[in-house]
Amino acid sequence: MSASGVRLVLLGPPGAGKGTQAKAIEERTGARQISTGDILRENVRNGTDLGKRARSFMEAGGLVPDDVIVGMMEGELAAPVGASDAPSFILDGFPRTVGQASALDALLARLKLPLTAVLLFDADRSPLVDRLTGRWTNPRNGRTYHATFNPPKVAGVDDEDGGPLVQRHDDTHDVVVDRLATYDEKTKPLVAYYAGTGLLAHIDGLAAIDAVTTEVIGVLDARTGTPTP
Ligand code: AP5
Repeated sequence: MSASGVRLVLLGPPGAGKGTQAKAIEERTGARQISTGDILRENVRNGTDLGKRARSFMEAGGLVPDDVIVGMMEGELAAPVGASDAPSFILDGFPRTVGQASALDALLARLKLPLTAVLLFDADRSPLVDRLTGRWTNPRNGRTYHATFNPPKVAGVDDEDGGPLVQRHDDTHDVVVDRLATYDEKTKPLVAYYAGTGLLAHIDGLAAIDAVTTEVIGVLDARTGTPTP
């Protein structure tokens, strides 16, 4: 890992591979994955006030309001800052609106933590519905599999902790279609937002999982000037 830390935003439509690659980057670089979707789902499971506010938006394939998300992320980003003098993190699913992006800019400027890159996972729509309706997830650590493209060694069981895998409630065909429409309306404008910053890097999200990881690591190495082991 670079001495100055790896700080990434992962951008792309539902099913483009953000969570899959966040785990791979975390393993390779030690940067901490911060997935807003995982944090929200944990709050829904635990019945917290945050979970109660978020649940209906998530089940409908819409976005949780910006004020809820920004407040949650201010708390999350304080943790890596305290943990190291070279804070590293992978923002998986945040920001998702222009309002969230400008709140993130202000927060990182205050913390003096510039981003390393914004990775945009490019993907046509057609394979994404199949990817999401075939996804299996470990709710304990957020690790994902796919029934066909990335199956676990034993069906329904996580390779690492041996516990059960589940299918997400929002991975039904109809909700996936709504999530893709929400992405187009609310999140796609972030491509233009980051285009002029020099941070944006396009990644082929339709390549095989290992090939995508290799492309991502190549971008990181070029940006940090330090080869990832
Ligand atoms: P979130 O959990 O972030 O869901 P998402 O953005 O819809 O993204 P996904 O997790 O569905 O897709 P992914 O790109 O991570 O794909 P993955 O790697 O798993 O958010 C859920 C909800 O929470 C939102 O709808 C919203 O309501 C709310 N929310 C979250 N953040 C918010 C925010 N900032 N503001 C407001 N609301 C927010 O891959 C998918 C499948 O494909 C897997 O099975 C995988 O094995 C497979 N796969 C991955 N890569 C490949 C490949 N290269 N080839 C073949 N298969 C692959």
